[in-house]
Amino acid sequence: MKAMSRDFLTLQDYSPAEILDLVKLSSKFKKGDVGSSARRALEGKHLSLLFQKPSTRTRVSFEVAIKRLGGTCTFLSTGETQISRGETVADTARVLSRYVDAIVARVYRHSFLVEMAKYSDVPVVNALSDLYHPAQILSDLLTISEAKGRLKGLKLAYVGDGNNVCNSLLVGCSKTGIDISVACPKGYDPDRNVLKRSRFYASASQCSATVTRDPVEACRDVDVIYTDTFVSMGAEKERARRLRAFLPKYRVTPKLFDVAAGDAIFLHCLPAHRGEEVTSDVIDGPRSLVWTQAENRLYGQEAILASLLG
Ligand code: CP
Ligand code: NVA
Repeated sequence: MKAMSRDFLTLQDYSPAEILDLVKLSSKFKKGDVGSSARRALEGKHLSLLFQKPSTRTRVSFEVAIKRLGGTCTFLSTGETQISRGETVADTARVLSRYVDAIVARVYRHSFLVEMAKYSDVPVVNALSDLYHPAQILSDLLTISEAKGRLKGLKLAYVGDGNNVCNSLLVGCSKTGIDISVACPKGYDPDRNVLKRSRFYASASQCSATVTRDPVEACRDVDVIYTDTFVSMGAEKERARRLRAFLPKYRVTPKLFDVAAGDAIFLHCLPAHRGEEVTSDVIDGPRSLVWTQAENRLYGQEAILASLLG
């Protein structure tokens, strides 16, 4: 029952030690170094994947992770559910939790997830909302630690839109001791409250969380340069205005790597828009770890599910 279970809505709800444990567990899943109880954590369990938006990586990596852990799942796009005809989130959560052992949901409004978690008797997992993308960032921390051998003491620059991915990166980095510097245009800053909380987490982890308008300043000496689309799902109508605000200044080009550390890596949650937020020579070049980053989503999802339901 809910009183005993936990949700995965934002990394804000997880302590630094818990985040590091999840990263370690993801790495163990990747290496095949987990015991049989973790490997069969979802035996006999059924999950519901409830998606309001498209997905390639998140949907498939969750589905494969569920199967690998011995579970089964039902995929629902909200358009095919009674939510599309006005059934409330609360009633949907109450009903789904009578059938399934966890709900993995990708939604527009983060408040939808909070409401769902409030009325669900089973764990609710955020598969992306307008405010956060914690499952993405958990596996990104795995990718960074594999590439650099550590997290604490590293520097990361996020160049682009202060969106869901940026918000979760702020939380994930500030809780694990990575200096994070966000370069974005005025009007496209990360969420104010998330930034405030991240500065608080950063002071506890002896690192920093800063925002600048200058991508070159953000990228100076960093170990990781990260970007994401300028036009997130749901913002399509703002596309022309956004491209005017971001381009060409906030595109990740080889020039930004000139000021970064010599062995700096490039990350992007994907899907990518070559020629918009990143040039082809960067994303398809030797510094880019985006395919490993995408692969690591699978091990991140295994760790999240095993820890919630194992
Ligand atoms: N990075 C990510 O969440 O990709 P999808 O939208 O394909 O799931
Ligand atoms: N910020 C993007 C991430 C996609 C994985 C979006 O919300 O569309």
